[in-house]
Amino acid sequence: MAGIFDLLHALDERAESAYAADGCVVIGIAGAAAAAVTGIADWSDTFGRPARLGIVHAASNTAALALYVASLALRKRKRPLATLVSFAGYGMVTLGAALGGHLVYGETQGVNHARADELPTDWIRLLPLAELMDGKPHRAKLHARDIVVVRQDETIFALLEGCAHLGGPLSKGTVDDCSITCPWHGSRFALDDGRVLEGPATVPQPIFETRVNAGYVEVRAFAKEAP
Ligand code: FES
Repeated sequence: MAGIFDLLHALDERAESAYAADGCVVIGIAGAAAAAVTGIADWSDTFGRPARLGIVHAASNTAALALYVASLALRKRKRPLATLVSFAGYGMVTLGAALGGHLVYGETQGVNHARADELPTDWIRLLPLAELMDGKPHRAKLHARDIVVVRQDETIFALLEGCAHLGGPLSKGTVDDCSITCPWHGSRFALDDGRVLEGPATVPQPIFETRVNAGYVEVRAFAKEAP
């Protein structure tokens, strides 16, 4: 919007266009502080390549912020230069936005990592019941997806392996009190319905129906997504 009003001012030289452009820049700078706080919170949960991309994303946004602040300082005395600096800031913020989009859509950061689609609804034989130790999570393959199976007394629970928060391995987590805790950031899910008992996960972990048939544990996805 600042760019549009700056261009308008370059054409009509009306004071209102200049005020509007300056106001947009001020609002953008104020919004950047809030965006940085949420970005740092998201970034603190990333590892490896997404973490490195996050640093580049932050650097381009910081450069954009610096350019917009410089533009604001120049606006009263050197408006044409301020407009150019502002457009340079727009270029940097566009780069930052493209990287931010890639982090979400390409690197699946900040999204639900436990998609419950394409799960088999027919009973699938997994492993002999005797191999399941009480209270010890066991990782198993269900077609192309990994799941975690837990035996507690006579009940067998099965959940998707990758934690809904950021894909942490639930089979390496701890089982306690009818719940399983992710080893990465401590999200705790109820074993019986996958509901979130403690964050940072915000969506339930998909669960499976289980049964024991001829000494083997069998699982299948619920016909509808579990509540
Ligand atoms: S991956 Fe973050 S709590 Fe599981």
